Amino acid sequence: MNQESSQNWLHKVYGASDATELKQLYDNWAEDYDSDLQTYGYRYPAVLAGLAGRHLDPEGGPVLDAGAGTGLIGEMLAILGFSELVGIDMSDGMLAVAQRKGVYSRLDNMTLGEHLDFADSSFAAVVSTGVLTVGHAPAESMDELVRVTRPGGHLIFSLTVQTYEQDGFKQKLEALEAAGRCQPLAVTSDFVGLVAVDDEVTHPARFFVYRAL
Ligand SMILES: C[S@@+](CC[C@H](N)C(=O)[O-])C[C@H]1O[C@@H](n2cnc3c(N)ncnc32)[C@H](O)[C@@H]1O
Repeated sequence: MNQESSQNWLHKVYGASDATELKQLYDNWAEDYDSDLQTYGYRYPAVLAGLAGRHLDPEGGPVLDAGAGTGLIGEMLAILGFSELVGIDMSDGMLAVAQRKGVYSRLDNMTLGEHLDFADSSFAAVVSTGVLTVGHAPAESMDELVRVTRPGGHLIFSLTVQTYEQDGFKQKLEALEAAGRCQPLAVTSDFVGLVAVDDEVTHPARFFVYRAL
């Protein structure tokens, strides 16, 4: 598949009309996702690895990869010595590819924005890349992600600038802060996560680091 037609997947997932369509698109994209993302010049795993190295302890306890997809982030964290990795995603097709990577101790189909089937304070850290973005997981996802992070644990996630400013994430994060549930530790500069794709699907983003309280 040439670069132009492989980018159709990006146009499709960003244009999905609802969660059912989005899930089907990812199910169908799953087998080609890793090679396509490599072709697109995907930079989130590298930025996440840098932030994990700066803020997380590989032996600090279980890490939840929220919207794990095919497990690109799990692979990075496993290389860095994180051994207790749990992944969730709403696409069984993506999870099947992640399973083959052999780096997650548990993978479950769960939907961000809904109740997550984990006890309070289950994780030392939550990471999420490329999921809190246009038409994907809603701002309400943050309530559950903070709930399942233990006090003192970290949340590291990418947010597209558009999603942060227009889809309620700014207000949601400010409300969680005001409620004493988490505090911001760091934010990256804005950057383009996919450096080799058409402008309309680049969606500039930034990474945030929060501490759960
Ligand atoms: C662009 S991929 C990112 C996957 C992986 N984190 C990465 O960086 O390669 C987005 C993933 O989010 C998942 N996703 C989208 N909306 C979701 C939701 N509301 N709940 C759970 N997963 C969701 C999709 O199924 C897909 O696997």
